[in-house]
Amino acid sequence: MAYLELEELTKQFKRKTGLFGPPEIVLAVDHVNLSINKGEILGLVGESGCGKSTISRLIMQLISPTEGSVILEGERLADLPPDEVRRRRRDFQMIFQDPYASLNPRMTVFSALSEAILTRHPEYKDDIDQLTEKVSELLAKVGLDARYIRKYPHEFSGGQRQRIAIARALATEPKLIIADEPVSALDVSIQSQILNLLRKLQRELNLTMIFITHDLSVVKYIADRIAVMESGKIVELGEAEDLFENPKTKTARELLRAIPKIQF
Ligand SMILES: Nc1ncnc2c1ncn2[C@@H]1O[C@H](COP(=O)(O)OP(=O)(O)OP(=O)(O)O)[C@@H](O)[C@H]1O
Ligand SMILES: [Mg+2]
Repeated sequence: MAYLELEELTKQFKRKTGLFGPPEIVLAVDHVNLSINKGEILGLVGESGCGKSTISRLIMQLISPTEGSVILEGERLADLPPDEVRRRRRDFQMIFQDPYASLNPRMTVFSALSEAILTRHPEYKDDIDQLTEKVSELLAKVGLDARYIRKYPHEFSGGQRQRIAIARALATEPKLIIADEPVSALDVSIQSQILNLLRKLQRELNLTMIFITHDLSVVKYIADRIAVMESGKIVELGEAEDLFENPKTKTARELLRAIPKIQF
């Protein structure tokens, strides 16, 4: 059985077109059908504005669909009572392009990770030793030294900061991670380190992962399958290798052409 299914998933936005004009309807996500298996890494690619982030916000239950459903392990999320949805929602985490989107600049690494750990283990609340051990364990998992525990996000480099954001996501023991352009703001050399880390963690923890990017080279080595989006629709879906060898749509060919020729 699929871990996550999107069924005719649709999101319309109304956008103002000036002071007096009628609002324009934007079909950000347009009847998307997609099935993702447990432990799979799905690359979701497409030009800016094609609807990638809107799909992730729909899956995360941050916005509700205009039409269609998100189905988790066979259950339609919209049919579940709100506290059940909240319980399941804990299994989902996001990693963003800008780690500050998930890291509070006024919280130390210890506070940020402890806060996330406590959502799963409220019983650790007054157990500083247990929390410290858990936080150190998470830092080790993402390749950071435990001595960083009392530092603030601004004291780190971009790559290290993204590692902390990844540790924070893992702290809630998620089953699904949606990474939305997680390496787009990083130098190319750092990009591959973070990609390798995500790949390693995905294998170790058997995570299901949706990897959103406008840059096909980023998902080339990490994705099992790739879905290509265009104006709210999935226009091509297949094994990553096939897409690189034999792209079927104009959008896929253009995304391939946009990959820089020299890769390090
Ligand atoms: N809250 C909103 N209100 C109105 N329109 C929106 C809203 N959010 C997104 N849109 C529109 O929906 C479309 C899809 O946006 P979305 O952010 O999902 O694209 P994206 O593929 O993530 O783009 P990018 O690669 O630039 O991040 C765009 O036309 C965008 O302007
Ligand atoms: Mg986006």
